[in-house]
Amino acid sequence: MKGPKKVLASGVSSEFRKYNHPHALFYTHGRGSLIYDVDGNEYLDFTLSQGPLILGHSHPEVLRAVEEYSRAGQLFAGQHIREVELAEKLNLLIPSAEMMRFCLDGSEAVQTAFRVARARTGKSKFLRFEGHYHGWMDNVCWGVSTPSAEALGSREQPNVFPWTEGLPEGVEHEFIILPWNDLALVERTVARRGHEIAAVITEPVMCNNGCIEPGPGFLQGLRDICSRNNIALIFDEVITGFRLSLGGAQEYFGVTPDLSVFAKAIASGYAISAIVGKYEWMRLIEQAKVIHAGTMNAGNPTVAAALATISVLENDRPHERMFRLGRKLMAGLRKAAAESGHPMLAEGPGPMFATSFTTLEKTSDYRDTLTADKAKLGRFIAAMHEEGVRVIGRGLWYISAVHTDEDIETAIAAAGKALKQI
Ligand SMILES: Cc1ncc(COP(=O)(O)O)c(C=O)c1O
Repeated sequence: MKGPKKVLASGVSSEFRKYNHPHALFYTHGRGSLIYDVDGNEYLDFTLSQGPLILGHSHPEVLRAVEEYSRAGQLFAGQHIREVELAEKLNLLIPSAEMMRFCLDGSEAVQTAFRVARARTGKSKFLRFEGHYHGWMDNVCWGVSTPSAEALGSREQPNVFPWTEGLPEGVEHEFIILPWNDLALVERTVARRGHEIAAVITEPVMCNNGCIEPGPGFLQGLRDICSRNNIALIFDEVITGFRLSLGGAQEYFGVTPDLSVFAKAIASGYAISAIVGKYEWMRLIEQAKVIHAGTMNAGNPTVAAALATISVLENDRPHERMFRLGRKLMAGLRKAAAESGHPMLAEGPGPMFATSFTTLEKTSDYRDTLTADKAKLGRFIAAMHEEGVRVIGRGLWYISAVHTDEDIETAIAAAGKALKQI
């Protein structure tokens, strides 16, 4: 064998996997809340593969459905009835899902939403928010990594930084970026530039830098501004979808967007996403005024995985438990941190939350998160790993339907030890 770094660019298949502690690790298998590396080490897993594994690793009902449906064939370049069953299910569950199309991942579904928004409004730009992640395509590969809070400049007209080289000239003119959770700022910006803006896109809970809930009235305020100004409101529910409730953040917060994107948790780790929306928007795809395609879309195994995931979530109703366990873990981590003299902020709804080392009692936007001590967080995550607890490097924790009270207590005890080492 030549070795991973000789044949895979930097040894990984997704940039984020490089930042595993102590380097990109290799795993052999996962079961429930546990994952095992090639050296035979066992970890209590709170990464859940960056979110998708809402039922934990290798859930037997998902595996059974995938195996059974795969035996019938993998991909037909045509329709199969289960695809319609899945669409009908999502239509019942998700408030805005009057019509939908399936894709493979969140990144491409986001781009589809932009295309629909542009086509219907006849406008071109989208308004987005600092620190929100909407995939890695050219027009959203901005505003997620920043040299410092000061570098962002004014709130009215922030500076924006690309996350990659190789972007086409002028792509930064596709969007306007603002700090999040500031409705008056959105109001003023739309008053000036609403004639250019086709869509406002937001993570309903900001999960890619910290885990920040929208302030009271913020999402509804966006809803009203968009309705008044012929702008599509897009919820990027790639993380919040199924995690806050089966109807996503839109059900949880009671605010219905025009279009939204679901991925990650809808199929327990199989590659399927959905662009869903109100008929008046989605009919542009129906009429082929907006083109959406994809050879691999809605194959048998992925649709099977999504249907099985929904069925387990509907039967077991784990959300209340996931909220309770998440809140218990946050409280335990805060207590362990305070006792160790390293006050920690643990915030988020529960099924997902973030830890950071900052003196702030609460964060409300990306700029706040940049004040945290990242080096200390890195040492904490590394020490947790040594204690057998796996957490996403940026301090995000996911709770699954199969985590137990005992898992939470194990993680809190590990944090007590880890905090002594940092
Ligand atoms: C909120 C959000 N939107 C979009 C994406 C992109 O999704 P994918 O990685 O499936 O392309 C992600 C991925 O982490 C995400 O968190």
